[in-house]
Amino acid sequence: MEKKRKISIIGSTGSIGTQALEVIEKLQDKFEIIALAGGKNVELLKQQAEKFKPKFICHNSPLPLEGEGRISTRGTSVRNSGEGYKILTGTEGLEEICSNKENDIILVACSGKIGLKPTLKAIENGIDIALANKETLVMAGDIVMEAAKKHGVKIIPVDSEHCAIHQCIKDINQVDKLIITASGGPFLHKSIEEMKNATVKEALAHPRWNMGKKITVDSATLMNKGLEIIEAHHLFGFDYDDIEVVVHPQSIVHSAIEYKDGSVIAQLGLPSMHIPIQYAITYPERYEGIKSKSFSFAEIARLDFEAPDFEKFPTVKLAYKAGKLGGTATACLNAANEEAVFAFLDGKIKLYQIYEITKKIFDEHEVIKNPTIDEIFDVDSKIREKTKNYIEKLNQA
Ligand SMILES: NC(=O)c1ccc[n+]([C@@H]2O[C@H](COP(=O)([O-])OP(=O)(O)OC[C@H]3O[C@@H](n4cnc5c(N)ncnc54)[C@H](OP(=O)(O)O)[C@@H]3O)[C@@H](O)[C@H]2O)c1
Repeated sequence: MEKKRKISIIGSTGSIGTQALEVIEKLQDKFEIIALAGGKNVELLKQQAEKFKPKFICHNSPLPLEGEGRISTRGTSVRNSGEGYKILTGTEGLEEICSNKENDIILVACSGKIGLKPTLKAIENGIDIALANKETLVMAGDIVMEAAKKHGVKIIPVDSEHCAIHQCIKDINQVDKLIITASGGPFLHKSIEEMKNATVKEALAHPRWNMGKKITVDSATLMNKGLEIIEAHHLFGFDYDDIEVVVHPQSIVHSAIEYKDGSVIAQLGLPSMHIPIQYAITYPERYEGIKSKSFSFAEIARLDFEAPDFEKFPTVKLAYKAGKLGGTATACLNAANEEAVFAFLDGKIKLYQIYEITKKIFDEHEVIKNPTIDEIFDVDSKIREKTKNYIEKLNQA
């Protein structure tokens, strides 16, 4: 009998995490779940644990799970739940999961900087990674990819664009450029004025993808595409000038590559994250799994492409600049943007200010070349603090 692949999911209660569990439910005979980790949604985590019977769960909530005493969010509290799984907490809990060599693969699907340390821990332990958490590569792509090479670890991208490129590339040395598609988000054909006055509800109304709030706002400003350019640079080792963005509103072509001879290979599929998630966690095998219907060009009828409007979406240019500067520039961009997105979601700033604030903080940053991981985290904390203070001052003015 085929051996089951042992998997843990960091961020199992989120958009990617829950869809990954839907994939695994369809492929029950292929997977054994070692651990499920979430943040604050302990109710959902518990339901998932009851259904999928992991050996460990990990959460980051100050509220105790049933049968658990009050716990610190920092210390690793290991308890037997009485349900057959052990309960871990906090960052230490995540790192413990990622040190467990029983895992064949770990899906890193949490949001934000929290993904970086567990990913590095898993790599050090020789465990393959299915990577959804884009902050990991945006913050510390050089360090992460170097560690993966050193430990012979595969990093399989979950992001649909990078997953597409991963599927297209046969011989990377013969590829001239990467072409990353962007749906264009909810403001693609709206005026700059309409975008400036957009409400949170409008920014969260993505026409194609149902995702977590942070990435959805990044899709509205197109910063998400900027972060993806940086991810692509690290994952595939291409110069920034050889990574192109094209707007493709239908989100059917997930990305493409151009070979030296002008041949273009693209990956197509219906806009569902189930497909790249399944590809990443089952790689290199393919199964029917979550597939619900067959692809039909006739049903899709047309595919449109257009150049991005960099005046309306200046975030993409800013991300190119950060990527080319390298060092801590991309960690700075990520931290300033994320804090500005949170402020927008809290109603403290307007959508367009996300770019303006991020650019101001970014322009003032003194880049550290070849930073250590501690220097990256230090920059991350200081930039977040600075961005939050700047937003406070703006609101007082
Ligand atoms: N959604 C997509 O379609 C998509 C596509 C491509 C890439 N990505 C990337 O994938 C990542 C996740 O995106 P998402 O849309 O799934 O976000 P999401 O829905 O907001 O989910 C985030 C997950 O991270 C968990 N989390 C937060 N803090 C945590 C902590 N301290 N410890 C452990 N878990 C923690 C959350 O737990 P609680 O909810 O329990 O607090 C939740 O499970 C992001 O980096 C995003 O850019 C997402």
